[in-house]
Amino acid sequence: MIKTSLCDLLGIDYPILQGGMAWVSTAKLAAAVSEAGGLGIIGSGHNDAKWVKEQISQIRKVTVKPFGVNVMMMSPHLEQVMQVIMEEKVPVITTGAGNPAKYIPQLKEVGTKVIPVIASVALAQRLEKAGVDAVVAEGMESGGHIGELTTMALVPQVVDAVKIPVIAAGGIADGRGLVAALALGAMGVQIGTRFMCATECEIHDNIKKMIIKAKDRDTAVSGRTTGHPVRALKNKLTKEYDELEKRCAPVEEFEKLGVGRLKAAMIDGDSEFGTVACGQIAGMIKEIKPARDIIKDILTKAVETMQALGVKRC
Ligand SMILES: Cc1cc2nc3c(=O)[nH]c(=O)nc-3n(C[C@H](O)[C@H](O)[C@H](O)COP(=O)(O)O)c2cc1C
Repeated sequence: MIKTSLCDLLGIDYPILQGGMAWVSTAKLAAAVSEAGGLGIIGSGHNDAKWVKEQISQIRKVTVKPFGVNVMMMSPHLEQVMQVIMEEKVPVITTGAGNPAKYIPQLKEVGTKVIPVIASVALAQRLEKAGVDAVVAEGMESGGHIGELTTMALVPQVVDAVKIPVIAAGGIADGRGLVAALALGAMGVQIGTRFMCATECEIHDNIKKMIIKAKDRDTAVSGRTTGHPVRALKNKLTKEYDELEKRCAPVEEFEKLGVGRLKAAMIDGDSEFGTVACGQIAGMIKEIKPARDIIKDILTKAVETMQALGVKRC
């Protein structure tokens, strides 16, 4: 099927990473993706080190395949979570919302591959110098915290600027997206939103249904004025954020409104006042299916697309 140097680097069959997603990508989803030949990634969010250790233990009960843990660099439990990752010799770590340079030497010492998520050429170059193994270049089409550039503009610029493998993220949910990412010079893709509608994904059914119903223009970006914009499906909460933006409310008001809202959506199913973090590609997702089938569909469509373009497959 489709293989790139990223597969050799990470010991996976296909160049497909399931993005780490706070309150969404638990060990159950990550194990299913890894078992299907991709790289499943546990989203640690702001959970503590005990939670992360339990998740690692759970995934290891289900699969011997490589997996990853995503760490948010602004987590209040950062030091302890990093400690657990090193003790457990987690195969891959991806990082969001910050610069993991400080931890790279220790992580490499225990054999953990380090792959930060970046949204600019400058940060990709800085992290390459610091010794990371690859970068995820994430465009603003994606769900959750976003940068400024689109995937189409960001990926080729990062590819041209660094020598390490680049993984494209943001707005990719099928084989056409995978082929497009490879055409831009990426060695693989990271997919978040599509895997929210995997059977093994443990988010509340209300949220899966909301994604299935979503159309192309149903996401909104909130909090641009705070410097930490988030893309989510439009609901009563995003309207409240709009009001705050209109009256240029102070950052504290945005923070107060956002406390606990991602969990409220993903765990409790609050589709009205929860943060239903989700990418623009939601409009293309029409079915809940096992992670293995999602991956199989992506690969089949990618091969068809390459054949239609007259590209030889390896
Ligand atoms: C609900 C949700 C939660 C997310 N949480 C995180 C996170 O905790 N850490 C992180 O680095 N990225 C996070 N992301 C980004 C994903 O890992 C991935 O890069 C992104 O979803 C890719 O774009 P797509 O949604 O268009 O597939 C999240 C995305 C979503 C949709």
